[in-house]
Amino acid sequence: MKRKDIIEFEVGSMEFGGESSTLIGKRKVKMKGGITGQKVKAVVKKARSEKAEVKLLEVIENSPMETSPVCDHFGACGGCSMLSVPYEKQLEIKSEQVLKLFEEQGIEGFEFLGIEGSPVERLYRNKMEYTFGDEVKGGPLTLGMHKKGRHLDIITVNDCRLVDEDFIKVLTSTVEYFGEKNLPYYRINSHQGYLRNLVVRKGVNTNELMVNIVTTTQVDFDMAEYKDMILNLGTKAEVVSILHTINDGLADAVNCDELRVLHGRNYIEEVVLGLRFKISPFSFFQTNTKGAEKLYSIAREFVGDHEGKVLFDLYSGTGTIGQVMASAAKQVYGIEIIEEAVVAANENTKLNGLNNCEFIAGDVAKVVKNLSEKPDLIIVDPPRPGVHKDAIRDISGFGANEIVYISCNPKTLVLDIKGFESYGYKVEKVKCMDMFPNTPHCETVVKLKK
Ligand SMILES: C[S@@+](CC[C@H](N)C(=O)[O-])C[C@H]1O[C@@H](n2cnc3c(N)ncnc32)[C@H](O)[C@@H]1O
Repeated sequence: MKRKDIIEFEVGSMEFGGESSTLIGKRKVKMKGGITGQKVKAVVKKARSEKAEVKLLEVIENSPMETSPVCDHFGACGGCSMLSVPYEKQLEIKSEQVLKLFEEQGIEGFEFLGIEGSPVERLYRNKMEYTFGDEVKGGPLTLGMHKKGRHLDIITVNDCRLVDEDFIKVLTSTVEYFGEKNLPYYRINSHQGYLRNLVVRKGVNTNELMVNIVTTTQVDFDMAEYKDMILNLGTKAEVVSILHTINDGLADAVNCDELRVLHGRNYIEEVVLGLRFKISPFSFFQTNTKGAEKLYSIAREFVGDHEGKVLFDLYSGTGTIGQVMASAAKQVYGIEIIEEAVVAANENTKLNGLNNCEFIAGDVAKVVKNLSEKPDLIIVDPPRPGVHKDAIRDISGFGANEIVYISCNPKTLVLDIKGFESYGYKVEKVKCMDMFPNTPHCETVVKLKK
């Protein structure tokens, strides 16, 4: 086997995060994508004596596991690599993968409580961030997701099974509308163009919809007609917020230089476990509302009796977890880096009649040590890269009896646990919660005891 060789093989095991690993001769062959039992064609990118890296070119034969119906974009869109696998099987695979990550780090002696499925397997997302572009160079305007392995090509995902009909209506009417206006989409290489993204958010329990169109300032275009078009779409949810975000930044991300409110307010509301939350356009909110209710219930179970206790909610976003715990707690302190989310979190406490919560803006690694009150329990829910090592040191330094770690990335979770172990903590129990059906991801909740 050497670089650029085209090889055919049957996919071996699937690893957490969407990679597969297959033993071919003596070599462990790693590939992005692949479902156990699929026969695939791939090109060799790197080959050493014991391992190789290949890129998937084509699925020649489906795996016997692939018995579920798929959408029109399956295989082309990078979104739902496990859509073809029945949901029960997906859960089994994810649970085994997470447990294996713990084993590989030598973390043992805990109770593994398996995996809980999402209450909704399809149409579960409450937020989508679509990109304007074209599918083939010079082709008609498209709006949707990046084509798998081709970061410049965009496919209009109008048959997506992760979102409900309101998302599809807004998506298709937006691409049709701007296609007729002949406006240029923004090119990330040349930094030229106008149309960048469409972000749609929905309050699943409140039936509120936010439509946020993101452009540069390179064209002077009046959005009034677009706003009216969206308002007349006849969506099931009420359109309470239409926004125009100006983003002239060079980064390929939805950033905001200026926010223009075209209709209604600049936030939507969502209800989770009986509490109300304001969601501003750029703050984090779990993308599967029904799943979040289950995840927070698991977290509450893991926290256990917290009557009269002081809790830290670190990486608090809009303050959901802290507030779910607040009614029994003596005091909750949250830390979150996005200021807009902190403002929303503090407003949310008022909305929910809670007067024992305080959310503070800052980087956990820098400011957690400034909290003067001693916590009985610490909850951490960091982003995918996990908890910074300085934060692990400072968090452990409080000497709280218990830490509940909620993670969307078990690969960094297990490394962080090794860090907490070095400061005297031990894993008591672990449970997975599938917030992202049909994708290779899931959440993991861990209880650590001093
Ligand atoms: C996985 S989200 C959890 C949010 C919240 N706990 C929830 O369930 O909605 C992680 C949050 O950490 C925030 N964050 C990222 N890096 C941070 C840092 N260094 N310090 C504080 N917050 C950070 C992100 O903005 C995001 O809101």
